[in-house]
Amino acid sequence: MHESANKPTAEERSAAEEAALLEDVAALLATYDTRRGNLLPILQAIQHRHSYLSSGAMKKVAEHLSISYVEVFGVASFYNQFRFHPPGKHQIKVCLGTACHVRAGDIILENFERKLGIKEGETTADREFSIERVACVGCCALAPVALVNEYVHGKMQPSKVEGLILQIDIEKERKEREKRSSEPE
Ligand code: FES
Repeated sequence: MHESANKPTAEERSAAEEAALLEDVAALLATYDTRRGNLLPILQAIQHRHSYLSSGAMKKVAEHLSISYVEVFGVASFYNQFRFHPPGKHQIKVCLGTACHVRAGDIILENFERKLGIKEGETTADREFSIERVACVGCCALAPVALVNEYVHGKMQPSKVEGLILQIDIEKERKEREKRSSEPE
């Protein structure tokens, strides 16, 4: 389906979002002095407000603290609390804590990656799905475990991966159909 002429395209939308994000990051940086020790708190504040660190945001942080982008990225990628892509509308988290790992949680992760065509830590181009690995979520008896939008799916199997994605797609289509039928002709 084509976007109508007056609707922004996905590229325009993401360029506008990135511009707004950078504006917000600039305002945030103005509240911090330029000591290097502020690096981690600044990254945490950006992640808290925007749920991820874009490369543009990290470049601004590097400029503010007069350090290199590589250093900022190096620190951020050391901590797994940071993500580098905007979260998808549907967030898939695969547990790779010990119990889930022993029960082949990594195979479940690979199946989600293959099905969606992205790697963990990434988001699909349409922003519908993102995948990440998480540490024990406290339901080890149900290992291996995956969370879809915070809903726990236990005893995961590769065949269940397909079903979960399909379920989300069907639900999306249903909502779109309902929306279209409620729109005036
Ligand atoms: S290790 Fe996955 S729930 Fe505990």
